[in-house]
Amino acid sequence: MPVDSPVPIPILLLAWYDRSARRLPWRAPPGAPATDPYRVWLSEVMLQQTTVAAVGRYFAEFTQRWPSVDALAGAADEDVMAAWAGLGYYARARNLLACARTVAAAGGHFPDSEEDLRALPGVGAYTAAAIAAIAFGRRAVVVDANVERVVARLFAISTPLPAAKTAIREAAATITPDTRPGDFAQAMMDLGATICTPKRPACAICPVNGHCTAFRAGDAALYPVKSPKAVRPSRHGTTFWLESDGHVLLVRRPDKGMLGGMRALPSGPWTDADPGMAGAPAGISWRPLGNVAHVFTHFALNLAVVAGDTSDRTGDGEWWPVDDIDRAGLPTLFAKAAALAQKARIAEDEGRA
Ligand code: ADE
Repeated sequence: MPVDSPVPIPILLLAWYDRSARRLPWRAPPGAPATDPYRVWLSEVMLQQTTVAAVGRYFAEFTQRWPSVDALAGAADEDVMAAWAGLGYYARARNLLACARTVAAAGGHFPDSEEDLRALPGVGAYTAAAIAAIAFGRRAVVVDANVERVVARLFAISTPLPAAKTAIREAAATITPDTRPGDFAQAMMDLGATICTPKRPACAICPVNGHCTAFRAGDAALYPVKSPKAVRPSRHGTTFWLESDGHVLLVRRPDKGMLGGMRALPSGPWTDADPGMAGAPAGISWRPLGNVAHVFTHFALNLAVVAGDTSDRTGDGEWWPVDDIDRAGLPTLFAKAAALAQKARIAEDEGRA
């Protein structure tokens, strides 16, 4: 139970937010009317599993190129996928387009209730609540990982995550106000990001420390309790840097599956054991260049990068100018492989000179 402070949590928290809110490009200042639902939706989808710092430049580019949901709905799939490259979790980009097209087809207005928002592609419980609160001023219980931590500490919820999610949500509901729900949601996020941090929280300057059961017990940093993580398995793959006269072969990955719909270097299967040259786009001899590693949510991938040359441009894919590879919109894994190949290329050129 929260303890001891006569002033309720929302009042304290909103007063703190009025003084200390982070200024973020998708955000209305504290107390100001809500911003465009399109911007709120776009930012919330980008912020799913991604930090505020990483999202900044993507949000700027998307809103400049596609200033409205109708503009985004009219964009070519490959342009949106390429613009998303580097943000990760690429299903979000496919759902983003599907959602934009659904909203545009229905007249270009986002629905304003959590229930109708949830029916949109890529909009789950968290995102629907965030949009309802932030864009439409609806009371909604908005619980992301930051909020989870704040609430677990305020109420000293000792059940481990993820089992604690229901209890955390119920506790969050007891402190969610009817007034300024968007500001309240974002104040909770800001508190979690800046004061109620995972390690060494700054409890001494916390505006709601008088309500915090964990702080009173002196053990805020112990929350939220988490179940031990499963070990992440490793997988192995090979990717092929195939050059022809200053161009490199790129393919588009199938819509379903990892990095679905993204432009990529050709690569074979990702398996428990090294797959060797399986899936090579040409029956030529390949030079090993090294390896790149990349951690996905459910496995860590070790990708061998091999290079070869050909004069035969038949077969599937597009031949992309090597010098322009940074503009291909490769996801980070393949951008790393391309960087390795280019470094090797420069070294080989210098060796020849
Ligand atoms: N993380 C997710 N949504 C956010 C928002 N609106 N402000 C700050 N951090 C966030």
